Amino acid sequence: MSELTLGVIGGSGLYAMEELTEVEEIRLQTPFGEPSDAYICGRLGAVRLVFLPRHGRGHRYLPSEVPYRANIYGMKMLGVDRILSVSAVGSMKEQIAPGHMVVPDQFIDRTTGKRANSFFGDGIVGHVQFADPLCPALAESLYQAAHAAGATVHQGGTYVCIEGPTFSTRAESRLFRSWDAAVIGMTNLPEARLAREAEICYATLALATDYDCWYEGHEDVSVEAVLAIVRQNVAMARRIIAELAGRLAAERRCGCGEAARFAVMTAPAAIAP
Ligand code: ADE
Repeated sequence: MSELTLGVIGGSGLYAMEELTEVEEIRLQTPFGEPSDAYICGRLGAVRLVFLPRHGRGHRYLPSEVPYRANIYGMKMLGVDRILSVSAVGSMKEQIAPGHMVVPDQFIDRTTGKRANSFFGDGIVGHVQFADPLCPALAESLYQAAHAAGATVHQGGTYVCIEGPTFSTRAESRLFRSWDAAVIGMTNLPEARLAREAEICYATLALATDYDCWYEGHEDVSVEAVLAIVRQNVAMARRIIAELAGRLAAERRCGCGEAARFAVMTAPAAIAP
């Protein structure tokens, strides 16, 4: 049986998990270029953890510039079959207060087509199912893990993914609320698409850091406010990761592992060797 491996994509604060043993740093080249940074691999009990800072150490890549394909391809090269994304988001609902966690179950795409978010193309046409874009089994384990770690956590909700890097206008923020969005962020949708094509389970731990700009009487979102809440919640995020690692089932029964099996439409004879 292959060893349990959990990929984590998030901020660099997550690197320093003291409980991690056998730590090594792995730098990779992929057919899609270099990932955002070196992968930090280590062991937490029976589970191998593989961390990647999405924006690179020192936060160097804009949401539109993150090398999403290289990042997910690199995870696959390292034997990762489940990815946890840990991400700061704005809250679109009053009951999701800054400091709360959300485990979303849907996405709305408000990116503008700048990002390469498929491994298909260049002569190979494929379409994977994406009706349920986040792995329901991993999301359920994540919700249980967050609960056990003592977080205030909301199960389900729609993550609206904007292009950025500017935050939304007030009119956009109100529009997203009318669409019943729960949270807003700039990065998770391309990752979820690529993970599905790569047959990797993907779930999001969204940390609400602000009320974006829709909520009268509350400060509009700012980098300062986002960073303050992120700093306050690093320890909690690490506890949740450890809880999740302890809950991974040996076998995946969700279907993510066969997501691309019947996806390719191009005739085998038309695919160059
Ligand atoms: N990340 C954290 N807060 C955000 C917001 N309000 N909009 C987009 N991304 C965010």
